[in-house]
Amino acid sequence: MGYNIAIDGPAGAGKSTIAKIAAKELGFIYVDTGAMYRAMGIFLMREGVDAADADAISAKCREADITIRYENGEQVVYLNGENVNGVIRTEEAGTMASLTSKNPDVRKKLVELQQKLAADADVVMDGRDIGTCVLPDAQVKVYLTASSAVRAKRRYLELTAKGTDCDIETIEADIIERDRQDMTREISPLVQAEDAVLIDSSEMTVEEVAERIMSLVKGHTK
Ligand code: DC
Repeated sequence: MGYNIAIDGPAGAGKSTIAKIAAKELGFIYVDTGAMYRAMGIFLMREGVDAADADAISAKCREADITIRYENGEQVVYLNGENVNGVIRTEEAGTMASLTSKNPDVRKKLVELQQKLAADADVVMDGRDIGTCVLPDAQVKVYLTASSAVRAKRRYLELTAKGTDCDIETIEADIIERDRQDMTREISPLVQAEDAVLIDSSEMTVEEVAERIMSLVKGHTK
């Protein structure tokens, strides 16, 4: 087994920003599992599958071939041979991912892929169930969170910097709804693993969170 770092937490807590920094500093591979659920969500959306139709999702998800490649140090997600990195970042894809990720067949397929990626490599993997289900033996587990108001504000600043017109109340309402969906589903809900270290980044800078994680890694011998 490689050296595995699991970072879980709710939408917008800064997991991917922090995971990327930690992976770079350590020379590990960054695995963004949300991107895989987003690619699956895009596939199901394109196929016209109703997010509420569990049987249709179970049947259709078998036709989605999701693979990961690393190109110039970046994770690229391929859906049936197509690079979908450019289309998975929308709110619509995130919502579809959240709705369809509660399906057991979707999870089984993607968890297998994630476990394979971590089996032989040193990885920093982020998601919702990494410390609890995907990599229960990870050497370092972090549960990264922040208040919904802070998460909404960060997202708002990110979107307005890109020139996207948006409204902070709607963003916060979406975040709260996504938390509810991810935390209350039956299979692998978002929950802090017993052995995970809780980091609340509401009052912390990116550098402070990254430093905290690096100190956890240094304090842990292989
Ligand atoms: O982290 P993200 O916003 O890209 O994830 C999109 C959705 O995918 C999230 O709302 C729930 C689902 N997801 C999951 O169920 N398990 C994971 N390990 C990662 C994401």
